[in-house]
Amino acid sequence: MEQNTDSPVRLTGTIRQLRPSDLPRFREHLLRLDSESRRDRFNGLANDRFISAYVYRSFAAGTTVIGYVEGDKVLGAAEIHERAEESQPTAEIAFSVERHLQHRGLGGRLFERLIEKARDFGYTKLLVTTHPQNAAMRALARRYNARLVFEDGETVGTIHLDPPLSLSGAVAGEIQGKAALQPA
Ligand SMILES: CC(C)(COP(=O)(O)OP(=O)(O)OC[C@H]1O[C@@H](n2cnc3c(N)ncnc32)[C@H](O)[C@@H]1OP(=O)(O)O)[C@@H](O)C(=O)NCCC(=O)NCCS
Repeated sequence: MEQNTDSPVRLTGTIRQLRPSDLPRFREHLLRLDSESRRDRFNGLANDRFISAYVYRSFAAGTTVIGYVEGDKVLGAAEIHERAEESQPTAEIAFSVERHLQHRGLGGRLFERLIEKARDFGYTKLLVTTHPQNAAMRALARRYNARLVFEDGETVGTIHLDPPLSLSGAVAGEIQGKAALQPA
């Protein structure tokens, strides 16, 4: 795992999908985010009560959460929330890494796992809600050749994925294509 060489913090945990019983650990993780990260993550003010309700709602709705877990703590997360009302397979995604672990490649590792999972689900459109100045989020998307597009100061960025390949190797129901991140 990539790390800051001048940092005393080592990443000793694992990245795995969270289980239903991980709900309290996920909640504690989001509650521990410092105020700036919390604001970036929720695109504005989010108090503890809001976060608790959000976590319960997410787990009740079957949200997929991939966590960075050390011992009994979730210290980073990547979330996939289906947006079933959209005409094409769409999910809203979100990332969070606790301050002392930021800038060590963890967000990138979570991003990779999330894209893999999103492809497994057959999503072709991913939405990220944050502010357009979120440099870390932009850098993350750029690193994986995904372009985050914010239209006219909008707070929703879009990442497009190719549709899954059919068993014959063609894009399901469409012309041939390769499963790569597409620029938006
Ligand atoms: C976004 C976030 C998950 C990135 O996690 P991370 O572990 O720091 O990410 P990485 O270490 O893998 O770095 C990813 C890229 O972001 C850059 N980056 C990280 N923090 C940054 C910051 N504060 N400002 C500018 N760039 C930053 C890194 O340099 C890296 O860029 P590179 O690929 O060009 O080298 C983390 O900063 C975070 O939790 N932020 C608060 C919540 C949030 O904004 N979530 C996203 C919207 S839902």
